[in-house]
Amino acid sequence: MNILGIETSCDDTSISIVSDGKKILTLLSLSQNDAHKAYQGVVPEIASREHLKVIYSLTEKAISNSKIPISQISAVAVTTFPGLIGSLVVGLNFAKGLAYRYNKPIIPINHLIAHFYSNFFENDIKFPFIGLLISGGHTALFKFDSFEDYTILGKTIDDSCGEAFDKVAKHFDLGYPGGPIIDNLAKDGNSNAYNFPLALADIKKYGLNFSFSGLKTAVIHFRKKYKTNQNKDEKLEDILASFQNAVAKTLVLKTMKALEKTGIKRLVISGGAAANSEIRKSFMILKNNGIEIYFPPLNLCSDNGAMVAGLAYHLFEKNLLNKAEFLSLDAKSRMVEMKRNSLIT
Ligand code: KG4
Ligand code: ZN
Repeated sequence: MNILGIETSCDDTSISIVSDGKKILTLLSLSQNDAHKAYQGVVPEIASREHLKVIYSLTEKAISNSKIPISQISAVAVTTFPGLIGSLVVGLNFAKGLAYRYNKPIIPINHLIAHFYSNFFENDIKFPFIGLLISGGHTALFKFDSFEDYTILGKTIDDSCGEAFDKVAKHFDLGYPGGPIIDNLAKDGNSNAYNFPLALADIKKYGLNFSFSGLKTAVIHFRKKYKTNQNKDEKLEDILASFQNAVAKTLVLKTMKALEKTGIKRLVISGGAAANSEIRKSFMILKNNGIEIYFPPLNLCSDNGAMVAGLAYHLFEKNLLNKAEFLSLDAKSRMVEMKRNSLIT
């Protein structure tokens, strides 16, 4: 069964056709980095306009690249939440038009759950597993019993992991998106040069929740202080490597606790920041404790249509909407369980 996946929840327009939830027949993505660069962050209004400019031609190209005639596509899967509302609306309405014209059903997809699916193309992963999502919009720990049956064990109460990378990079004037830039520069730095705080490390008090806003502020102020003192010994790369180290340590600490608490020995990591080299290295320590660990392939860490089409294959029977139902389908910017200003206890 071939499913066409559409992903436009943030600043990547991505279209894919996946066969039987496993084989990626085509995956075409356009990043909007250049459009947002001047603002060093995603501007929602610009994001929706950029999606609108390219979605039609990108889909046309993806279908022709796949060599699959439209008649052999069984459904259109589309991210409907959470994300930037204007961007989601572009993807959803395009999906509606396509499905209406070609008489296909639509499968609405939760972007956060789809991220985990990026691990399933190359691996047959069994349930249950602990899922750690580290993206630009979200950071959370899940317990998955199936793709539809999951519990959120902890989440960030302020900035997400990727957001902390982006904001530190912005303050240091390094460019956007900050994650890959910091990852690169930190390779020439000493990750133990400075000891930045590990936020909410007290698990008894804060559970499996995360906070990256304090760490971000600590790093920014640290840099400012050194700049004013004109300390010639200070190396930007050391600060960035130490920051990255603090992020990785926090993630490992909370994830280890989640595995310990649930007794689950399988871990699946997903989201844009799963591409980070220090985070990948730090998690390898869990392998010595007999934990099965999965990271997505580097090209599927960030937002992509393949994860949408792949997950849809498993939700096909229960979540499929026909013409009469999908026309009234709405996009949602939030997932209520992910509300940031509260702890999960
Ligand atoms: O998953 P994603 O593409 O979009 C959301 O769903 O939010 O994640 C984008 C985030 C950005 O914050 C970006 O800076 C971060 O992923 N990112 C990284 C790396 N590559 C991308 N963060 C740390 N290290 C990286 N190598
Ligand atoms: Zn994402």
